[in-house]
Amino acid sequence: MLTVARDGVLLKQADRAVLDFIRNAKGFTQQVLAGRVASFYREQVAQRRASGQPEPQSFADVAAIVSPLFEYQAEKFITRHLQELMWNQLFAAVTPHAEDLLAWLDEPVPHPKGTLRLNPELVPPPYYEIDYHIQPGGQHREPLIPFVLEIGQVVYHGERNARSELKVGAALALPEGKYERILDLGCGVGHSTYPIKERFPDAEVYGIDLSAPLLKYAHKQAEAHGYVLHLSQQAAEHTDFPDNYFDVVTSTILFHEVPDDAAAAIIREGYRILKPGGLFQIADTPPYREHELFRAFTSDWQTEHNGEPYWRQAALRNLVELCYAAGFSRVEEPSRERKKHGGSPTPWITWAWK
Ligand SMILES: C[S@@+](CC[C@H](N)C(=O)[O-])C[C@H]1O[C@@H](n2cnc3c(N)ncnc32)[C@H](O)[C@@H]1O
Repeated sequence: MLTVARDGVLLKQADRAVLDFIRNAKGFTQQVLAGRVASFYREQVAQRRASGQPEPQSFADVAAIVSPLFEYQAEKFITRHLQELMWNQLFAAVTPHAEDLLAWLDEPVPHPKGTLRLNPELVPPPYYEIDYHIQPGGQHREPLIPFVLEIGQVVYHGERNARSELKVGAALALPEGKYERILDLGCGVGHSTYPIKERFPDAEVYGIDLSAPLLKYAHKQAEAHGYVLHLSQQAAEHTDFPDNYFDVVTSTILFHEVPDDAAAAIIREGYRILKPGGLFQIADTPPYREHELFRAFTSDWQTEHNGEPYWRQAALRNLVELCYAAGFSRVEEPSRERKKHGGSPTPWITWAWK
């Protein structure tokens, strides 16, 4: 049962009921239907192996096995429609409160400890003008988006996710150290930034994002909960920070939202603004090479059907090479070691030292 009532968005029982339904239906689809597809696939592969036939080698081979299956078709059909239904229902729940919520968002914080710099002149890169995760208005064209995302997180991942394991996990993965300044690229509403400030309370923590509504919300929430953050609206590929300024630059689930040329530019910019010896940590979804073929195949579906056009590029991208090409002197993937010892590959962490 959803009990969320955040920031004045008191969900009506009728809205809660539909969102509960969507959440449970997502669970059914992901566990029961997708589970049956996976079992079917494994049985088919085992039979092929037993009879000496070649095993699937490519996404096309996997598709040839699972696509005819009713459960596979139903799972994909329902997943896509639940995603659309979820956004529609979230907007329906939040829109009646729009006037109050937007007034609250624009009301300046009295005596803020952190800072917020918005740039109304900023023209976002063309690749950003998409409806990420098929959410209407994408990350920045719909002023209500921070409220929709905040409640949407609960539908997506359950009540705990506002501080999800992935985002806290990315902050916990950072090496112990005494850092003066840390920057979180693509900080959104701050879910990846707060745990950094918690872990390194003496560091000055900065966050940048292209989306003004998300930054305004992050600023209000940070001030309300006592996190001193310095937030600004900037593109991660061209920031206004001086050379050699940060000890650590992080990004949590930003890289799968940008195309290859932007990823390379962001890594080069990270290199420029890091101090010599500074660390760039990239935390994102694991590359396909780290999954078995079937898992990579199911993940790849996002690219064409769930508003994630850069997902495949990101999953095939060689971050290690890109970091060396940008000039970093040492690059590691600590997740590789964790995975070897049975740990989760998510988030997949890349470390690059200047
Ligand atoms: C999936 S969200 C992750 C937000 C946050 N790091 C978290 O873990 O909750 C990706 C964020 O990156 C931002 N973003 C995408 N491209 C960007 C760019 N080129 N420069 C700065 N921010 C960007 C989006 O607006 C969005 O808020």
